[in-house]
Amino acid sequence: MLELMGDWERTDYCGELGTNDLEREVVLMGWVQAHRDHGGVIFIDIRDREGLVQAVLNPQNSEEVHQKGETIRDEWVIAIKGVVSRRSPETINPNLDTGEIEIMASEVKILNTSKVIPFLIEEDINVDELLRMKYRYLDLRRPGMKENIITRHKVATASRNYLNKEGFLEIETPYLTRSTPEGARDFLVPSRLNPGEFYALPQSPQLLKQTLMVSGLDRYYQVVRCFRDEDLRADRQPEFTQIDVEMTFINENDIMRVIEGMLKAIFNEAKGIKIDTPFKRISHEEAMLKYGSDKPDTRFGLLLQDISHIFADSEFKVFSGAIKNGGIIKVLNLKGKAGELSRKEIDDLTEAAKSLGAKGLAWIRVSDGEWQSPIIKFFSEEEKENLQKTLNLEDGDIVFFGADTPHIVNLVLSHLRLSLGERFGMIDHNKFNFIWVEDFPLFDFDHKEKRYVAMHHPFTSPNEEDIELLDGEHGKIRSRAYDVVLNGVEIGGGSIRIYRKDIQEKIFRAIGLSMEEAQDKFGFLLEALEFGAPPHGGIALGLDRIVMIITGSQSIRDVIAFPKTQKGQCPLTEAPSGVDINQLLELGIKLDVKDNEKNDN
Ligand code: AMO
Ligand code: AMP
Repeated sequence: MLELMGDWERTDYCGELGTNDLEREVVLMGWVQAHRDHGGVIFIDIRDREGLVQAVLNPQNSEEVHQKGETIRDEWVIAIKGVVSRRSPETINPNLDTGEIEIMASEVKILNTSKVIPFLIEEDINVDELLRMKYRYLDLRRPGMKENIITRHKVATASRNYLNKEGFLEIETPYLTRSTPEGARDFLVPSRLNPGEFYALPQSPQLLKQTLMVSGLDRYYQVVRCFRDEDLRADRQPEFTQIDVEMTFINENDIMRVIEGMLKAIFNEAKGIKIDTPFKRISHEEAMLKYGSDKPDTRFGLLLQDISHIFADSEFKVFSGAIKNGGIIKVLNLKGKAGELSRKEIDDLTEAAKSLGAKGLAWIRVSDGEWQSPIIKFFSEEEKENLQKTLNLEDGDIVFFGADTPHIVNLVLSHLRLSLGERFGMIDHNKFNFIWVEDFPLFDFDHKEKRYVAMHHPFTSPNEEDIELLDGEHGKIRSRAYDVVLNGVEIGGGSIRIYRKDIQEKIFRAIGLSMEEAQDKFGFLLEALEFGAPPHGGIALGLDRIVMIITGSQSIRDVIAFPKTQKGQCPLTEAPSGVDINQLLELGIKLDVKDNEKNDN
């Protein structure tokens, strides 16, 4: 029953045909989306990458074609020869790009059959994602998924074209490398030729791209895979792609200009979306103060306010106690919505806050000039007046309080802000709000290890105005790092780097790293810095996240052809898997018995 393509040559993509092609004989090849037998005439929707078109198998044209048509089933692969014809007005399908035409088949070949598919090839299917991932090749036949992959290609192409035009060189760096100090866990690869030694898959090409600047290659980019053994989330994969950039003799403004231009090109060329540049800039301090987050969603207001000063000496120990312990009190005033928020919803919000580590979520609701609240009985008159003045409370307001360490308060209220923003329709989903977050602190204090750690990586340059603080107050030093944030998602981050050995040594000392340890971890970069390293800086954009936002996808997995599950597995290839015992022997690796059961020895 199966036939060969023989000397048939495809003339067109199904989805690209239209009324311009009327009367033309075409040869189409693709998959059967649907087949219908309408009283003698068989209609087949044939689909390829570019879309689908209806073919008509009429016994009056060819008895043989019609008979073959009766055997054809969904997802079979067929080739059709026929003439493009105009549909009669009452049969035009306005929902289909090719809905004004159909193909009058004169010959048909069945190239292959298909087993019954585990889910339908259409947009809205309600199947478990694991099943979709196991049959990823079928999942990618669905129009939306296919569109995501095409958009991803366009994003990568637009960024390459733009950077090529700006004088950047695409340079590859090795995947079998040494671990770079980016902070996540490494994926290790044992070396057969050097038993007991391991390569690390790169978490990013950070050190190597800096080394390329020392080489004088001036402007580097790479669309590059990065590997991080982290806990996975909707916007995190163990392997993901960066548009990685590094430049010489530049400052922050140069990098921002290049990246804004690139994002403009990407959004325009991939989806026809016009974005405004330059992007607004906001300091890390202001972002934390107003949004409680270093990746603020600026599509809506509902800003946080710090009211610690009002309750520093309060009788209400929950508040004054938090401040005495070095904490803060911040509030979110949801104006005019108090009536729409049920008691049950407030309880749910409180539970959500507790799951993030809050001890509670105090609130005040204003209605008919009265304050309702589980906490005002603890407030003094002066505190109430102060609160009224500061927050300008009006009927319909509901104010939520967070009192704890700055970390918990910001975490809880920034989540609350996003869920209230979503709940009350304050977020315009057609908006693309880009911002730069800058002036990050150079160091974070690690309470467990009781020492400062680099907030980005230890090659990030301190702000020149703050350099003298390197001998004193480390917590106050700002860095020359910047993140680009889109609609509350961090889509990129980078910095101006340290290129002088004296400053680099001071940074290592500040994070408690001896020169020997530093030498051991990234000695080659330190050495390179001593051979005429130029001032330089760069950034890396998360390609997957950009495509996720452009396509309106809920998960980064929907824009990756072959993603991993939350457990880091690939249901299609069944990676990771056990390996032959001989492979392990060659590598000089011995597993414990339990793990060994997974290996086919
Ligand atoms: P950073 O670690 O901030 O910087 O990464 C840059 C961007 O990569 C994206 N990203 C991820 N996307 C998906 N899954 C992940 N697990 C993941 N991790 C990061 C984010 C992020 O903004 N070498 C530095 C850049 C530099 O300084 O030039 C770096 O890798 O969008
Ligand atoms: P309690 O005194 O524990 O009954 O708490 C009184 C109110 O304050 C309740 O509405 C709690 O949800 C809230 N609350 C308790 N601790 C905190 C906190 N750290 N921050 C904000 N609200 C809190």
